[in-house]
Amino acid sequence: MELFSVKMRSSREEEHISGAETIVDRAELVEVVGSFVKRALNHTKGEPDFINVKIEKLKEKPLELVALPVYDLMIPIDEETLRKLFGLMGFPDERGIELYREILRGAAPGGKVMRGAMLVKLPFGERVEPDRERGVRVSTVGIVKEAEERLKKLAGDRYTENLRDALVLATKVLNHPAVLGELCVSDDPDYTTGYITVRGLGYVRLRRMKEKGLRKGGRVFFLKEDCNVEELINYLEKKPVIIKEVSSYSSVVDVRELLSSPMR
Ligand code: COA
Ligand code: AMP
Repeated sequence: MELFSVKMRSSREEEHISGAETIVDRAELVEVVGSFVKRALNHTKGEPDFINVKIEKLKEKPLELVALPVYDLMIPIDEETLRKLFGLMGFPDERGIELYREILRGAAPGGKVMRGAMLVKLPFGERVEPDRERGVRVSTVGIVKEAEERLKKLAGDRYTENLRDALVLATKVLNHPAVLGELCVSDDPDYTTGYITVRGLGYVRLRRMKEKGLRKGGRVFFLKEDCNVEELINYLEKKPVIIKEVSSYSSVVDVRELLSSPMR
């Protein structure tokens, strides 16, 4: 089977508006390109004056992964809950909260939003990404139609395209053995749901991570002390990964339910 990576990015006056990508069979190319262009033209951040669609044939077979289990934490997030989740991850909670605040202020120099993720390493959580404006961008990912349909069914009216894309990306990230977890707040002013992933637990959706209307956001990947950063970046950017299956979607009303999860 011939597989292709399809990537879309859109901008206005050089400012990034949206991006999307997937991996598909040759026969699906035309349909996917159409849907990406539609997506670019209908973004809440505004109308683009530039849309770039890139199609590349994959040179290697993608790694096939099962999506992380999703836990939808139905309570608005507060720092106390976040601290507990950092504890589960094995990351110092004080530093975790500092990084969360940094995301909300804009973690690039001058308080700007980064173009990719921060990398922070144990034991102290120092930033180790090579470029603090660009960060590191995960790419070359996709999800098969059956898995996407299953996610829609499991999540019901809580399904969003953001959830699907973020779950795909986060599953690739946490699959790397040197990653402990991830924190994400969208920079979309209308999308206030974020997430944290925790090794051995899964993907926890977090409500009201920021004030509606705030055009700030960002991602942090939490790394073990012995992580080879160069090798990790190469994996995150280049290794083709496709989600073949979705595992579960559970609603959680109290963070204590996560602390006693059977996965742990
Ligand atoms: N924010 C700001 N600028 C961005 C950007 C982002 N998220 N993504 C791309 N750009 C701009 C930058 O100027 C970038 O140059 P840089 O590498 O110096 O930062 C330029 O576009 C080219 O980016 P590149 O990644 O080489 O383009 P691409 O066409 O290969 O892939 C994406 C673009 C957006 C598809 C890819 O980077 C990506 O983010 N994939 C994941 C998409 C996804 O699922 N996102 C949803 C997560 S919830
Ligand atoms: P989004 O969920 O698309 O609003 O993205 C939230 C933040 O994550 C952005 O502000 C970037 O800092 C970062 N980001 C965007 N795309 C990627 C990516 N592909 N990989 C890693 N980080 C990203």
